Amino acid sequence: MIKIAPSILAADFSKLADEVKEVEKAGAELIHIDVMDGHFVPNITMGPIVVEALRPVTELPLDVHLMIDNPDAYIEQFAKAGADYITVHVEACRHLHRTIQLIRSYGVKPGVVLNPHTPVEQIIHILEDVDLVLFMTVNPGFGGQKFIHSVIPKVKQLSDLIKEKGLDIEIEIDGGINEETIIPCAQAGATIFVAGSAIYNAEDRAEALKRIKLAGES
Ligand code: DX5
Ligand code: ZN
Repeated sequence: MIKIAPSILAADFSKLADEVKEVEKAGAELIHIDVMDGHFVPNITMGPIVVEALRPVTELPLDVHLMIDNPDAYIEQFAKAGADYITVHVEACRHLHRTIQLIRSYGVKPGVVLNPHTPVEQIIHILEDVDLVLFMTVNPGFGGQKFIHSVIPKVKQLSDLIKEKGLDIEIEIDGGINEETIIPCAQAGATIFVAGSAIYNAEDRAEALKRIKLAGES
């Protein structure tokens, strides 16, 4: 089953609650929240207060993608704000196992994120501890960038590994997803797809969401 996680980074921030409700009504499965600190990535976006404000607005799980240095210092705040998933970058975690345990200790589902160039080998010893692996298919920092195709073999590699080990882990893709790029990612074994600009920049968001999901299911 294909799940779509619209990224609110591409939404209109002056009416964020309505923007979230609109995609929920259109059939989104998660709400993706991009947290950037201006250090790990060259952009600053939103923090726990946005997660807290959105929590009562939607019934959908909040998928909080931390693109920040030293995530350990902020996990408690994001957990208490109402995150359902917290994903951290392997490139930002010196003690990844500790960080993953910390996320789980708050009853939040932990996930690990790989930048486009980071090999799958970096996370093979953490797979049993995570609920989700997120592959970046753009360099993190901005919405609206071009999909990087060379990530697809990594998705297939992990998908095969998960099957071989009999693990229950979701594979999520983030960056440049639209009704074309979703196809090879779904074929490679991914199940959750973040889409920012392809949904929020569309004239008819519900229609865009449905087309992307349908393409992924084809
Ligand atoms: C990029 C973010 C993405 C971004 C996706 O750093 O992690 O979630 O919002 O936006 P699109 O779908 O426009 O590439
Ligand atoms: Zn993201």
